[in-house]
Amino acid sequence: MRGPWLLVLGGLLAVPPAPADPPQPPDRLFWDGFDRFSREDWAGAQAQLWGAVRGLRELRGIRLRCGAECGLQGPGLEESVLSRAECLLGCERLQLGEPSRYRLTRDTERLFQRGLPYNYLQLTHYKLEELDEAAAAAFTFYVKNPHHEQIQDDIQRYKRMEQIQELSFRDLEQPQYQVVYTQAVSLLSEGKLRVGVRRLEESLKMYLLAMEDCRSLCEGTREQESETYRDVSEAISQYYMDILQCRQNCAKEPSLRMRVEHSTEDPLVSHLSLMLDAYSKLEDWEDAAEIARSLLVFHPQNETTRERLRGYEERLQGKSTGKLREAIALYVRRTLSEKRLLYYAMEHLNISFLDPDSWTPEEIIPESLRERVRKEQEDKKQRSGILPYEEVIVTLTPKEMNGTSRVTLDRVLNEEECSALMGLAQAAGGPGSGYRGRRSPHTPRERIQGLTVLRALQMAESGSVDVSHSRLYYRASERARLLAQSYFGMETMHFSYTHLVCRTAIMGEQEGRADLSHPVHADNCLLDPEEKECWREPPAYVHRDYSGLLYLNDDFEGGNLFFTELDATTVTAEVRPSCGRLVLFGAGGDNAHGVRAVTQGTRCAIALWFTKSAEHEEQEHSLAKDLMMGTESQTQSKESQSTGSGREASKTGRGTSATNEDPERPSGRRQKKRMSRKFEDEL
Ligand SMILES: *[C@@H]1O[C@H](CO)[C@@H](O)[C@H](O)[C@H]1NC(C)=O
Ligand SMILES: *[C@@H]1O[C@H](CO)[C@@H](O)[C@H](O)[C@H]1NC(C)=O
Ligand SMILES: *[C@@H]1O[C@H](CO)[C@@H](O)[C@H](O)[C@H]1NC(C)=O
Repeated sequence: MRGPWLLVLGGLLAVPPAPADPPQPPDRLFWDGFDRFSREDWAGAQAQLWGAVRGLRELRGIRLRCGAECGLQGPGLEESVLSRAECLLGCERLQLGEPSRYRLTRDTERLFQRGLPYNYLQLTHYKLEELDEAAAAAFTFYVKNPHHEQIQDDIQRYKRMEQIQELSFRDLEQPQYQVVYTQAVSLLSEGKLRVGVRRLEESLKMYLLAMEDCRSLCEGTREQESETYRDVSEAISQYYMDILQCRQNCAKEPSLRMRVEHSTEDPLVSHLSLMLDAYSKLEDWEDAAEIARSLLVFHPQNETTRERLRGYEERLQGKSTGKLREAIALYVRRTLSEKRLLYYAMEHLNISFLDPDSWTPEEIIPESLRERVRKEQEDKKQRSGILPYEEVIVTLTPKEMNGTSRVTLDRVLNEEECSALMGLAQAAGGPGSGYRGRRSPHTPRERIQGLTVLRALQMAESGSVDVSHSRLYYRASERARLLAQSYFGMETMHFSYTHLVCRTAIMGEQEGRADLSHPVHADNCLLDPEEKECWREPPAYVHRDYSGLLYLNDDFEGGNLFFTELDATTVTAEVRPSCGRLVLFGAGGDNAHGVRAVTQGTRCAIALWFTKSAEHEEQEHSLAKDLMMGTESQTQSKESQSTGSGREASKTGRGTSATNEDPERPSGRRQKKRMSRKFEDEL
């Protein structure tokens, strides 16, 4: 938002002339490119989309330059703010034209942040048979959206094309610091410590500069969110707090994060850790001590680092400076003074602030807020973790589920996907499938039907179920696996077993029913309710570490999942199934669970078990994976026969990917950073 008085000013300021030929605004170029894409004007779309990408870069550059040129000057605050506003407006108008042309809405900014233009660009390049560029654009989009299902498929397809070299898969938006960081890492691993650490110093500097740019851009425009009537100073302070909060969030800016192959750690910490090792190997105690002190700012509790610092200081025999690395000290000073202001505003002006850092020293936080801040931080951690899919939400945190390793997530599947999977379960249970319902092994009052991923894909091959539904089953299980992996912070989780199971109440046998649909048990140990123990030994599936239940429907009676204590009777939590709801939990005795009787209708869910150990990975699942790729290439070859053009058809292969998305469009599961709703609808 722009303060009301700045609006007034617009009329007072001497308006500088607009440039004769200002650059095209990136959003206009993007939408025009999108339009041409829809009309299959590949070359035209490509030109506009590249223009949009370049335009945004240019726009940022101009903003940064203008921001740097227009410092705060003048005797009083008011004059100073006014003259800066005038200077900025003039500077930008001179190079960009009228503000209304180049100011992007937040939604458009997000769309660029997600790298959406690259997803279209890869297709236009592909259509124009520019495979190297296609692979690069695809990879650029993939790096920003690693869990996007369609781009994963596309990358796989490009990888199978002989004409494309491994080198083509490059990230066109890789921050410069990462290039240098990667060089440093490989130098260090070759034992070239001195050059390596020098590179690290360089890349750290570059990272801090990139962060500075991010912080400067925070001073851009704000959209007015609510038109509530406010006092001028209130409005100004709100705006200022918005800017501070935005600057704070630069520490978590996705485009500046380390790539997964390096580390999930904060880039600052990654740099400092490597530097610490290198300097200490080089016996450069002064530098090592400075780095250790800097590292301790971000991980004050780390005893190893403390110990090491003591060692270095001893070696320096009192000649130590006691300082942090200069650049880090500066960064810390600045961010802490911003935090002070934000916490002050939180305490006195009722402004909300979520501190992105967990290392903020307690003394920065006003005493009256400490408890609340701690709670909010904990809740945030439990609620968001790092979920790979943006639309997925945490409905019940471990705390709300009265346990430590239990969580309920929603929107893992949408309605359409649920009904497709219900259809699959039904079709597989139909006549001739060999999967006709048997009585449940747990209760004679329910029929049970089960289907594994491999079986589903095999049935699709033989034409007895829909290919797209089987593939969706595979994808759904993969989503659950990724969610479990990231929520519980595991390196890699493997499938141990996957089963689509439906339980149907048998009519006429529900009267006075007291049994359960599935008795209380634990997944990787033998529950002994008398002893209140759970024995992790065969015949229990001892290698299972986590379990997941992905529900498909709720139109039945009974059938709730419930957790108990080790006595198998004291219920600690109960969850109602619903479409797209995923309950994840540790497979041990602390998550003993059962299923209440299904007394009417059919209840379907995908049951999943995960293991940390690669050697216990389910064979079936890797066979299923092969088959996934197989059905894909088969679909392609079939289509290529019918269309007479293999190249065209290989793209339509994606049509079988999930539901009935337009096969020609880049599409697929949304990932972090949702694009604007408007755009979704048009797609
Ligand atoms: C403590 O710091 C060292 C580097 O000094 C790092 O290797 C280690 O993982 C850290 N430990 C924890 C618990 O963060
Ligand atoms: C503080 O702000 C919240 C919403 O942001 C509002 O619900 C609450 O009433 C406000 N409290 C006071 C004391 O103004
Ligand atoms: C957790 O326990 C509380 C208190 O006993 C209960 O109200 C709540 O429903 C439980 N949570 C779930 C998910 O059942």
